[in-house]
Amino acid sequence: MKIEQPYTKLSNGIKMPLLGLGVYDMHSKEAEQAVLDAMEIGYRLIDTATLYNNETEIGNAVKKSGLPREQLFVTTKVGDSDQGYDSTLKAYDASLKKLQMDYVDLYLVHWPIKAKRKDTWLALEKLYTDKRVKAIGVANYLIPFLEELETYASVVPVLNQVEFTPWLFQKELVDYCAERNIQLQSYSPITRGQKFNDPRLLQLCDKYGKSPAQVILRWNIEHGIATIPKSSNKTRLQQNFDILDFSLSKEDVAFMDGFDEQFRICENPMDLL
Ligand SMILES: NC(=O)c1ccc[n+]([C@@H]2O[C@H](COP(=O)([O-])OP(=O)(O)OC[C@H]3O[C@@H](n4cnc5c(N)ncnc54)[C@H](OP(=O)(O)O)[C@@H]3O)[C@@H](O)[C@H]2O)c1
Repeated sequence: MKIEQPYTKLSNGIKMPLLGLGVYDMHSKEAEQAVLDAMEIGYRLIDTATLYNNETEIGNAVKKSGLPREQLFVTTKVGDSDQGYDSTLKAYDASLKKLQMDYVDLYLVHWPIKAKRKDTWLALEKLYTDKRVKAIGVANYLIPFLEELETYASVVPVLNQVEFTPWLFQKELVDYCAERNIQLQSYSPITRGQKFNDPRLLQLCDKYGKSPAQVILRWNIEHGIATIPKSSNKTRLQQNFDILDFSLSKEDVAFMDGFDEQFRICENPMDLL
């Protein structure tokens, strides 16, 4: 039985799958094959970035998949060196060309670069009001960055993509985004495997008969947090997608919230404040 995957409705009304494929650190043929495998399994969201240097391969895979474009949700991000008003507009065109698409579903500011983030956001607003992109959002915007954005933005970001795991449980950010209808999306959601041996996690894996990745990804879904695990292995792609046939109890979700130890894989965005 094929289980319908969960979607969320973003604040501007567009539908986005809660579970998607992240394609960081995938190169040429590997990226193309992983996207094709993922589509076959049922993934409909792909998260790339100019920085990942694989937009062309993602575009090739989308074409080869034969799936209608409107059934897919494609995110890309403006890279740090392209930030600024005119350069962001140019970077968007360059991304579209590589992706071989005439729009992306979601365009994100990849990192809040101090001197450039305001102009970059204003360029995203221009793309949005010109109806060249379906939705705009940010990544790595912790609360101080969102507060600053509020002082000049005329469009509220629909989504904030941040590093977020049980070991980096940011309750204040969850609440802040929920109050403003900003969808949270977790990156490096399975800690690149670094916390798979946590005995508290393994206890839950035994209880539910699921793998560490599956329990962590399900924890995201229970919180209504979108998530984009990366895999270029077909078995693991399938495993990460098979999280829709079970749920975690409220008590176990709260138990996992308590794993927080401010553990990070990526740079702390606060260093850019
Ligand atoms: N906005 C940002 O600044 C930012 C930063 C980082 C990441 N991201 C996005 O988030 C996505 C995911 O984050 P990430 O790639 O850093 O880390 P991740 O998804 O937490 O972990 C990926 C790693 O885990 C392995 N893996 C995947 N599924 C597994 C499973 N079921 N069991 C065991 N190992 C498994 C993968 O190897 P295999 O491929 O061999 O399976 C890969 O080495 C990225 O691809 C990117 O799209 C965004």
